[in-house]
Amino acid sequence: MQVLSLIAQKGGVGKTTLATCLAVQAVQQGKQVLVIDLDPQATASFWSDTRGKPDDPAVMSIQPVRLPAVLKAASDAGTDMVIIDGAAVSKEVAYSAAEVSDLVLVPFKAAVFDINSVAQTVQTIKQVGSRYALVLTFVPPQGKETEEAKDIATQLGSNFCPVLIGNRKAFFRAQSSGLAVQEFEPDGKAAEEIKALYTYVSDELAKQPQEAGNVKKFA
Ligand SMILES: Nc1ncnc2c1ncn2[C@@H]1O[C@H](COP(=O)(O)OP(=O)(O)OP(=O)(O)O)[C@@H](O)[C@H]1O
Ligand SMILES: [Mg+2]
Repeated sequence: MQVLSLIAQKGGVGKTTLATCLAVQAVQQGKQVLVIDLDPQATASFWSDTRGKPDDPAVMSIQPVRLPAVLKAASDAGTDMVIIDGAAVSKEVAYSAAEVSDLVLVPFKAAVFDINSVAQTVQTIKQVGSRYALVLTFVPPQGKETEEAKDIATQLGSNFCPVLIGNRKAFFRAQSSGLAVQEFEPDGKAAEEIKALYTYVSDELAKQPQEAGNVKKFA
């Protein structure tokens, strides 16, 4: 079982959007997927309620303290992939999720004032020692933001995910209808970006020795 988490202590940067879209992509690839919603605001769970397909993917809203037991049960039930949706602000949530993850994605907006919060999140992940990459979201069609973001990643000594997520209304429209962008607008640019991000995630996860690190943490 592979565990991916979306963590950023900054709010509204696309954690839930990417978690739900990647989960739908994994389901479309034939995987048994569980989304674990660690956010007290339960946005991913509301998305699932609106969606009305409780197992496609399954979404569970839990407290971080239950993570090891829930992961163990998911692994025993034959789940292929768990995607954890983190919460803004909470260092505890970030720490707990990073600890059990094979890969952490840290979405951040293409705006310079986000650097401090990205640095905080990166510091938390580095304490745990998990593998991670920064993902640039809300990328405008033009501008120098992308280069600046790469500079930030370099300054922080972080991996920079080569897939950029554009600032696109389709994400909001899909999310509010309980869909992923690939379902809402299958031939759109946002869908293309999610597919590319999923490929990146799959390739990164494949580089890891299967079940090496995290099983011990939730056994
Ligand atoms: N790439 C994007 N382009 C445009 N809008 C987006 C994009 N990604 C997310 N959004 C929209 O921005 C809002 C915040 O996104 P989302 O809920 O995914 O962020 P979050 O990091 O999970 O927020 P929170 O910290 O509150 O949990 C949502 O309305 C979502 O539809
Ligand atoms: Mg969220």
